[in-house]
Amino acid sequence: MQTIMTIVGARPQFVKAAALSRAFARSGAIRELIVHTGQHRDANMSDIFFSELGVPAPAVNLGISGGLHGDMTGRMLSALEAYMIDVKPDAVLVFGDTNSTLAGALAAAKLDIPIAHVEAGLRSGNRRSPEEINRVLVDHISRWLFCPTEASVANLAREGVTSGVLPAGDVMFDVLTAALARARETSVIVQTLRLVAGNYAVATVHRAETTDDPARLSAIFRYLVECARVRPVVMPLHPRTRKALAAANIPTTGIWIIEPLGYFDMIRLVDGAAEVLTDSGGLQKEAYFLRKPCVTLRDETEWKETIEAGWNRLWSVPEYRARHLIDDYGQGRAGEVICDALLVGLA
Ligand code: UD1
Repeated sequence: MQTIMTIVGARPQFVKAAALSRAFARSGAIRELIVHTGQHRDANMSDIFFSELGVPAPAVNLGISGGLHGDMTGRMLSALEAYMIDVKPDAVLVFGDTNSTLAGALAAAKLDIPIAHVEAGLRSGNRRSPEEINRVLVDHISRWLFCPTEASVANLAREGVTSGVLPAGDVMFDVLTAALARARETSVIVQTLRLVAGNYAVATVHRAETTDDPARLSAIFRYLVECARVRPVVMPLHPRTRKALAAANIPTTGIWIIEPLGYFDMIRLVDGAAEVLTDSGGLQKEAYFLRKPCVTLRDETEWKETIEAGWNRLWSVPEYRARHLIDDYGQGRAGEVICDALLVGLA
Protein backbone atom coordinates (compact mmCIF):
# COMPACT_ATOMS: atom_id res chain seq x y z
CA MET A 1 0.00 0.00 0.00
CA GLN A 2 1.40 3.40 -1.05
CA THR A 3 0.69 6.53 0.99
CA ILE A 4 -0.11 9.64 -1.03
CA MET A 5 -0.43 12.95 0.77
CA THR A 6 -2.90 15.23 -1.04
CA ILE A 7 -2.54 18.95 -0.30
CA VAL A 8 -5.63 21.12 -0.61
CA GLY A 9 -6.43 24.58 0.69
CA ALA A 10 -8.51 26.65 -1.71
CA ARG A 11 -12.01 26.10 -3.04
CA PRO A 12 -11.25 24.67 -6.51
CA GLN A 13 -8.89 22.12 -4.97
CA PHE A 14 -11.68 20.55 -2.93
CA VAL A 15 -13.53 19.95 -6.20
CA LYS A 16 -10.47 18.56 -7.98
CA ALA A 17 -9.66 16.32 -4.99
CA ALA A 18 -13.03 14.59 -5.44
CA ALA A 19 -11.89 13.04 -8.74
CA LEU A 20 -8.67 11.68 -7.24
CA SER A 21 -10.09 10.52 -3.92
CA ARG A 22 -12.68 8.40 -5.73
CA ALA A 23 -10.03 6.86 -7.99
CA PHE A 24 -7.63 6.17 -5.10
CA ALA A 25 -10.37 4.55 -3.01
CA ARG A 26 -11.44 2.36 -5.96
CA SER A 27 -7.86 1.25 -6.63
CA GLY A 28 -7.57 -0.33 -3.19
CA ALA A 29 -3.78 0.14 -3.48
CA ILE A 30 -3.39 3.73 -2.32
CA ARG A 31 -3.83 5.15 1.14
CA GLU A 32 -4.69 8.82 0.71
CA LEU A 33 -4.05 11.33 3.44
CA ILE A 34 -5.65 14.71 2.79
CA VAL A 35 -4.00 17.76 4.30
CA HIS A 36 -6.01 21.02 4.35
CA THR A 37 -3.75 24.03 4.71
CA GLY A 38 -6.65 26.18 5.94
CA GLN A 39 -6.25 28.79 3.16
CA HIS A 40 -10.04 28.87 2.66
CA ARG A 41 -11.79 28.42 5.96
CA ASP A 42 -15.39 29.68 5.73
CA ALA A 43 -17.99 26.88 5.70
CA ASN A 44 -19.32 28.00 2.30
CA MET A 45 -15.80 28.22 0.85
CA SER A 46 -14.59 24.86 2.23
CA ASP A 47 -16.68 22.36 4.27
CA ILE A 48 -19.63 22.28 1.86
CA PHE A 49 -17.44 20.93 -0.95
CA PHE A 50 -16.19 18.03 1.17
CA SER A 51 -19.70 17.04 2.21
CA GLU A 52 -21.34 17.50 -1.21
CA LEU A 53 -18.65 15.72 -3.21
CA GLY A 54 -17.88 12.98 -0.68
CA VAL A 55 -14.24 13.98 -0.25
CA PRO A 56 -12.82 12.26 2.86
CA ALA A 57 -12.29 14.56 5.83
CA PRO A 58 -8.75 15.95 5.96
CA ALA A 59 -6.36 14.09 8.27
CA VAL A 60 -5.30 17.51 9.47
CA ASN A 61 -6.24 21.16 8.95
CA LEU A 62 -3.23 23.42 9.45
CA GLY A 63 -5.44 26.49 9.95
CA ILE A 64 -3.19 28.78 7.92
CA SER A 65 -4.91 31.56 5.97
CA GLY A 66 -4.74 35.25 5.27
CA GLY A 67 -1.72 37.53 5.31
CA LEU A 68 0.55 38.54 2.48
CA HIS A 69 1.33 35.85 -0.09
CA GLY A 70 4.92 35.24 1.02
CA ASP A 71 3.94 35.09 4.66
CA MET A 72 1.02 32.71 3.99
CA THR A 73 3.15 30.45 1.79
CA GLY A 74 6.00 30.48 4.32
CA ARG A 75 3.80 29.48 7.23
CA MET A 76 2.32 26.66 5.14
CA LEU A 77 5.80 25.50 4.05
CA SER A 78 6.99 25.23 7.63
CA ALA A 79 3.90 23.38 8.90
CA LEU A 80 3.77 21.04 5.89
CA GLU A 81 7.45 20.17 6.23
CA ALA A 82 6.94 19.10 9.85
CA TYR A 83 3.88 17.04 8.93
CA MET A 84 5.62 15.35 5.99
CA ILE A 85 8.58 14.41 8.18
CA ASP A 86 6.12 12.84 10.59
CA VAL A 87 4.04 10.90 8.05
CA LYS A 88 6.75 10.08 5.43
CA PRO A 89 4.39 9.80 2.43
CA ASP A 90 5.54 7.97 -0.71
CA ALA A 91 4.39 10.92 -2.83
CA VAL A 92 2.79 14.32 -2.44
CA LEU A 93 -0.03 15.37 -4.75
CA VAL A 94 -0.83 19.02 -5.44
CA PHE A 95 -3.47 20.69 -7.63
CA GLY A 96 -3.37 23.78 -9.77
CA ASP A 97 -1.71 27.05 -8.89
CA THR A 98 -2.54 28.37 -5.44
CA ASN A 99 -0.25 29.28 -2.57
CA SER A 100 -1.17 25.92 -0.98
CA THR A 101 0.05 24.18 -4.17
CA LEU A 102 3.41 25.93 -4.04
CA ALA A 103 3.89 25.37 -0.31
CA GLY A 104 3.04 21.65 -0.62
CA ALA A 105 5.36 21.13 -3.56
CA LEU A 106 8.26 23.06 -2.01
CA ALA A 107 7.99 21.21 1.30
CA ALA A 108 8.02 17.87 -0.55
CA ALA A 109 10.91 18.86 -2.85
CA LYS A 110 13.11 19.82 0.10
CA LEU A 111 12.44 16.41 1.70
CA ASP A 112 13.07 14.60 -1.60
CA ILE A 113 9.50 13.28 -1.70
CA PRO A 114 8.27 12.90 -5.32
CA ILE A 115 5.59 15.39 -6.35
CA ALA A 116 2.57 14.79 -8.57
CA HIS A 117 1.18 18.00 -10.06
CA VAL A 118 -2.39 17.77 -11.33
CA GLU A 119 -3.30 20.51 -13.83
CA ALA A 120 0.32 20.92 -14.90
CA GLY A 121 1.60 22.97 -17.80
CA LEU A 122 -0.95 25.79 -17.86
CA ARG A 123 0.44 29.20 -18.73
CA SER A 124 -1.30 32.57 -18.98
CA GLY A 125 1.95 34.39 -19.75
CA ASN A 126 1.31 36.92 -16.97
CA ARG A 127 4.23 36.61 -14.57
CA ARG A 128 2.78 39.31 -12.32
CA SER A 129 -0.06 37.05 -11.18
CA PRO A 130 0.68 34.82 -8.17
CA GLU A 131 -0.97 31.85 -9.87
CA GLU A 132 1.45 31.96 -12.84
CA ILE A 133 4.49 32.04 -10.55
CA ASN A 134 3.08 29.13 -8.54
CA ARG A 135 2.43 27.06 -11.68
CA VAL A 136 5.84 27.58 -13.21
CA LEU A 137 7.72 26.80 -10.01
CA VAL A 138 5.68 23.70 -9.17
CA ASP A 139 5.98 22.29 -12.69
CA HIS A 140 9.77 22.52 -12.54
CA ILE A 141 10.06 20.48 -9.32
CA SER A 142 7.42 17.82 -10.00
CA ARG A 143 8.16 14.18 -10.87
CA TRP A 144 4.75 13.59 -12.48
CA LEU A 145 3.06 16.33 -14.51
CA PHE A 146 -0.57 15.51 -15.28
CA CYS A 147 -1.71 17.85 -18.04
CA PRO A 148 -5.37 18.64 -18.76
CA THR A 149 -4.83 19.61 -22.43
CA GLU A 150 -2.47 19.15 -25.37
CA ALA A 151 -1.55 22.85 -25.12
CA SER A 152 -0.34 22.35 -21.55
CA VAL A 153 1.93 19.50 -22.71
CA ALA A 154 3.37 21.84 -25.39
CA ASN A 155 3.90 24.64 -22.83
CA LEU A 156 6.03 22.31 -20.71
CA ALA A 157 8.04 21.14 -23.73
CA ARG A 158 8.82 24.80 -24.53
CA GLU A 159 10.34 25.10 -21.06
CA GLY A 160 12.33 21.88 -21.51
CA VAL A 161 10.06 19.80 -19.27
CA THR A 162 9.31 16.49 -21.01
CA SER A 163 10.04 13.80 -18.44
CA GLY A 164 7.07 12.59 -16.39
CA VAL A 165 4.58 14.54 -18.53
CA LEU A 166 1.25 12.80 -19.16
CA PRO A 167 -1.82 14.22 -20.96
CA ALA A 168 -4.35 12.91 -18.44
CA GLY A 169 -7.47 14.96 -19.12
CA ASP A 170 -9.14 17.45 -16.83
CA VAL A 171 -10.21 16.39 -13.34
CA MET A 172 -12.81 19.19 -13.18
CA PHE A 173 -14.46 17.64 -16.23
CA ASP A 174 -14.59 14.29 -14.36
CA VAL A 175 -16.30 15.89 -11.39
CA LEU A 176 -18.78 17.91 -13.42
CA THR A 177 -19.66 14.94 -15.62
CA ALA A 178 -20.39 12.84 -12.54
CA ALA A 179 -22.32 15.60 -10.72
CA LEU A 180 -24.44 17.25 -13.41
CA ALA A 181 -27.49 14.96 -13.25
CA ARG A 182 -27.64 15.31 -9.48
CA ALA A 183 -27.22 19.09 -9.64
CA ARG A 184 -30.13 19.28 -12.08
CA GLU A 185 -32.29 17.04 -9.86
CA THR A 186 -31.52 18.49 -6.47
CA SER A 187 -30.54 22.14 -6.79
CA VAL A 188 -33.41 24.65 -6.62
CA ILE A 189 -31.15 27.71 -6.84
CA VAL A 190 -32.68 29.00 -10.10
CA GLN A 191 -36.20 28.87 -8.63
CA THR A 192 -35.11 30.18 -5.22
CA LEU A 193 -33.56 33.25 -6.85
CA ARG A 194 -36.65 33.55 -9.12
CA LEU A 195 -34.50 33.59 -12.21
CA VAL A 196 -35.70 32.76 -15.71
CA ALA A 197 -33.55 30.01 -17.20
CA GLY A 198 -31.63 31.29 -20.21
CA ASN A 199 -32.16 34.94 -19.27
CA TYR A 200 -29.49 35.77 -16.70
CA ALA A 201 -25.71 35.88 -16.38
CA VAL A 202 -23.53 34.44 -13.61
CA ALA A 203 -20.57 36.56 -12.56
CA THR A 204 -17.64 35.91 -10.22
CA VAL A 205 -14.63 38.08 -9.39
CA HIS A 206 -11.90 37.20 -6.90
CA ARG A 207 -8.40 37.21 -8.42
CA ALA A 208 -5.77 39.20 -6.55
CA GLU A 209 -4.78 40.98 -9.78
CA THR A 210 -8.37 42.31 -9.93
CA THR A 211 -9.23 42.93 -6.30
CA ASP A 212 -5.90 44.44 -5.25
CA ASP A 213 -6.07 47.19 -7.87
CA PRO A 214 -8.98 49.56 -7.08
CA ALA A 215 -8.89 51.17 -10.54
CA ARG A 216 -9.13 47.80 -12.24
CA LEU A 217 -11.78 46.51 -9.84
CA SER A 218 -13.79 49.64 -10.45
CA ALA A 219 -13.52 49.24 -14.26
CA ILE A 220 -14.66 45.62 -14.05
CA PHE A 221 -17.65 46.55 -11.92
CA ARG A 222 -18.57 49.37 -14.32
CA TYR A 223 -18.58 46.71 -17.06
CA LEU A 224 -20.73 44.37 -14.94
CA VAL A 225 -23.16 47.16 -14.07
CA GLU A 226 -23.56 47.72 -17.84
CA CYS A 227 -24.16 43.99 -18.38
CA ALA A 228 -26.84 44.08 -15.67
CA ARG A 229 -28.78 46.62 -17.75
CA VAL A 230 -29.16 43.94 -20.46
CA ARG A 231 -30.15 40.98 -18.28
CA PRO A 232 -29.96 40.07 -14.56
CA VAL A 233 -26.42 39.42 -13.31
CA VAL A 234 -26.11 37.15 -10.26
CA MET A 235 -22.81 37.25 -8.42
CA PRO A 236 -21.84 34.77 -5.68
CA LEU A 237 -19.28 36.97 -3.99
CA HIS A 238 -15.88 35.84 -2.72
CA PRO A 239 -14.94 37.34 0.69
CA ARG A 240 -11.80 38.95 -0.76
CA THR A 241 -13.90 40.90 -3.27
CA ARG A 242 -16.50 41.89 -0.71
CA LYS A 243 -13.75 43.50 1.39
CA ALA A 244 -12.15 45.20 -1.63
CA LEU A 245 -15.45 46.63 -2.90
CA ALA A 246 -16.24 48.07 0.51
CA ALA A 247 -12.75 49.50 0.99
CA ALA A 248 -12.79 51.29 -2.39
CA ASN A 249 -16.50 52.19 -2.16
CA ILE A 250 -17.22 50.77 -5.62
CA PRO A 251 -20.86 50.84 -6.86
CA THR A 252 -22.50 47.51 -7.76
CA THR A 253 -25.85 48.93 -8.87
CA GLY A 254 -28.11 46.31 -10.43
CA ILE A 255 -25.75 43.38 -9.74
CA TRP A 256 -27.42 40.77 -7.58
CA ILE A 257 -24.79 39.89 -4.98
CA ILE A 258 -25.27 36.64 -3.07
CA GLU A 259 -23.10 34.55 -0.72
CA PRO A 260 -20.64 32.00 -2.22
CA LEU A 261 -22.47 28.85 -3.34
CA GLY A 262 -21.76 25.15 -2.93
CA TYR A 263 -20.80 23.02 -5.93
CA PHE A 264 -24.23 21.70 -6.97
CA ASP A 265 -25.90 25.11 -6.77
CA MET A 266 -23.07 26.76 -8.69
CA ILE A 267 -23.16 24.15 -11.45
CA ARG A 268 -26.94 24.43 -11.69
CA LEU A 269 -26.77 28.23 -11.75
CA VAL A 270 -24.30 28.15 -14.66
CA ASP A 271 -26.31 25.40 -16.36
CA GLY A 272 -29.36 27.70 -16.47
CA ALA A 273 -27.48 30.87 -17.42
CA ALA A 274 -27.20 32.66 -20.75
CA GLU A 275 -23.56 33.53 -20.13
CA VAL A 276 -20.75 33.59 -17.57
CA LEU A 277 -18.66 36.65 -16.66
CA THR A 278 -15.62 35.75 -14.58
CA ASP A 279 -11.97 36.17 -13.69
CA SER A 280 -11.84 32.58 -12.37
CA GLY A 281 -9.81 29.95 -14.21
CA GLY A 282 -12.00 26.98 -13.33
CA LEU A 283 -15.28 28.67 -14.15
CA GLN A 284 -14.13 29.49 -17.71
CA LYS A 285 -13.82 25.78 -18.31
CA GLU A 286 -16.99 24.81 -16.48
CA ALA A 287 -18.84 27.33 -18.68
CA TYR A 288 -17.51 25.47 -21.72
CA PHE A 289 -18.37 22.04 -20.26
CA LEU A 290 -21.96 23.32 -19.96
CA ARG A 291 -21.70 25.01 -23.39
CA LYS A 292 -22.21 28.51 -22.06
CA PRO A 293 -20.38 31.47 -23.58
CA CYS A 294 -17.96 33.11 -21.16
CA VAL A 295 -16.47 36.59 -20.93
CA THR A 296 -13.17 36.48 -19.05
CA LEU A 297 -12.59 39.59 -16.94
CA ARG A 298 -8.81 39.48 -17.35
CA ASP A 299 -6.23 40.49 -19.95
CA GLU A 300 -5.12 36.92 -20.64
CA THR A 301 -6.13 33.36 -19.81
CA GLU A 302 -4.38 30.05 -19.25
CA TRP A 303 -7.33 28.28 -20.97
CA LYS A 304 -6.48 29.55 -24.45
CA GLU A 305 -8.28 26.74 -26.28
CA THR A 306 -11.62 28.07 -24.98
CA ILE A 307 -10.86 31.41 -26.68
CA GLU A 308 -9.70 29.75 -29.92
CA ALA A 309 -12.89 27.66 -29.98
CA GLY A 310 -15.10 30.75 -29.69
CA TRP A 311 -16.68 29.85 -26.32
CA ASN A 312 -14.69 32.40 -24.35
CA ARG A 313 -13.45 35.92 -25.00
CA LEU A 314 -11.48 38.46 -23.03
CA TRP A 315 -13.66 41.37 -21.92
CA SER A 316 -11.48 43.73 -24.00
CA VAL A 317 -12.38 41.78 -27.18
CA PRO A 318 -15.87 42.60 -28.52
CA GLU A 319 -16.65 39.41 -30.46
CA TYR A 320 -16.22 35.67 -29.97
CA ARG A 321 -14.26 33.80 -32.62
CA ALA A 322 -16.07 31.27 -34.84
CA ARG A 323 -17.40 28.58 -32.53
CA HIS A 324 -16.41 24.91 -32.57
CA LEU A 325 -16.09 22.11 -30.02
CA ILE A 326 -12.82 21.53 -28.15
CA ASP A 327 -11.21 18.14 -28.67
CA ASP A 328 -9.46 18.10 -25.29
CA TYR A 329 -10.01 17.69 -21.51
CA GLY A 330 -10.30 13.87 -21.73
CA GLN A 331 -13.29 11.59 -21.34
CA GLY A 332 -14.21 12.29 -17.73
CA ARG A 333 -11.73 9.65 -16.47
CA ALA A 334 -8.71 11.81 -15.65
CA GLY A 335 -8.78 10.67 -11.99
CA GLU A 336 -8.39 7.01 -13.01
CA VAL A 337 -5.67 7.82 -15.55
CA ILE A 338 -3.69 9.69 -12.89
CA CYS A 339 -4.22 6.98 -10.28
CA ASP A 340 -3.02 4.25 -12.67
CA ALA A 341 0.06 6.27 -13.65
CA LEU A 342 0.95 6.86 -10.00
CA LEU A 343 0.60 3.15 -9.19
CA VAL A 344 2.99 2.30 -12.02
CA GLY A 345 5.37 5.13 -11.06
CA LEU A 346 5.50 4.17 -7.39
CA ALA A 347 5.80 0.39 -7.92
C1 UD1 B 1 -7.04 31.66 -4.01
C2 UD1 B 1 -6.01 31.34 -5.08
C3 UD1 B 1 -6.67 31.44 -6.47
C4 UD1 B 1 -7.91 30.59 -6.54
C5 UD1 B 1 -8.85 31.01 -5.44
C6 UD1 B 1 -10.13 30.21 -5.45
C7 UD1 B 1 -3.71 31.91 -4.50
C8 UD1 B 1 -2.58 32.80 -4.81
N1 UD1 B 1 -4.87 32.23 -5.07
O1 UD1 B 1 -7.35 33.05 -4.16
O2 UD1 B 1 -5.74 30.98 -7.45
O3 UD1 B 1 -8.54 30.79 -7.81
O4 UD1 B 1 -8.18 30.86 -4.17
O5 UD1 B 1 -11.13 30.82 -4.69
O6 UD1 B 1 -3.55 30.96 -3.78
N2 UD1 B 1 -10.96 34.59 2.90
C9 UD1 B 1 -12.00 34.52 3.79
N3 UD1 B 1 -12.63 33.31 3.91
C10 UD1 B 1 -12.31 32.23 3.17
C11 UD1 B 1 -11.27 32.35 2.23
C12 UD1 B 1 -10.60 33.53 2.12
O7 UD1 B 1 -12.34 35.47 4.48
O8 UD1 B 1 -12.91 31.16 3.33
C13 UD1 B 1 -10.22 35.85 2.78
C14 UD1 B 1 -8.75 35.66 3.17
O9 UD1 B 1 -8.55 35.82 4.52
C15 UD1 B 1 -8.08 36.74 2.35
C16 UD1 B 1 -8.95 36.80 1.10
O10 UD1 B 1 -10.20 36.23 1.42
O11 UD1 B 1 -8.14 37.98 2.99
C17 UD1 B 1 -8.33 36.09 -0.08
O12 UD1 B 1 -8.09 34.72 0.18
P1 UD1 B 1 -6.76 34.02 -0.37
O13 UD1 B 1 -6.73 32.65 0.17
O14 UD1 B 1 -5.61 34.91 -0.09
O15 UD1 B 1 -6.85 34.00 -1.94
P2 UD1 B 1 -8.05 33.86 -2.97
O16 UD1 B 1 -8.35 35.20 -3.49
O17 UD1 B 1 -9.19 33.07 -2.43
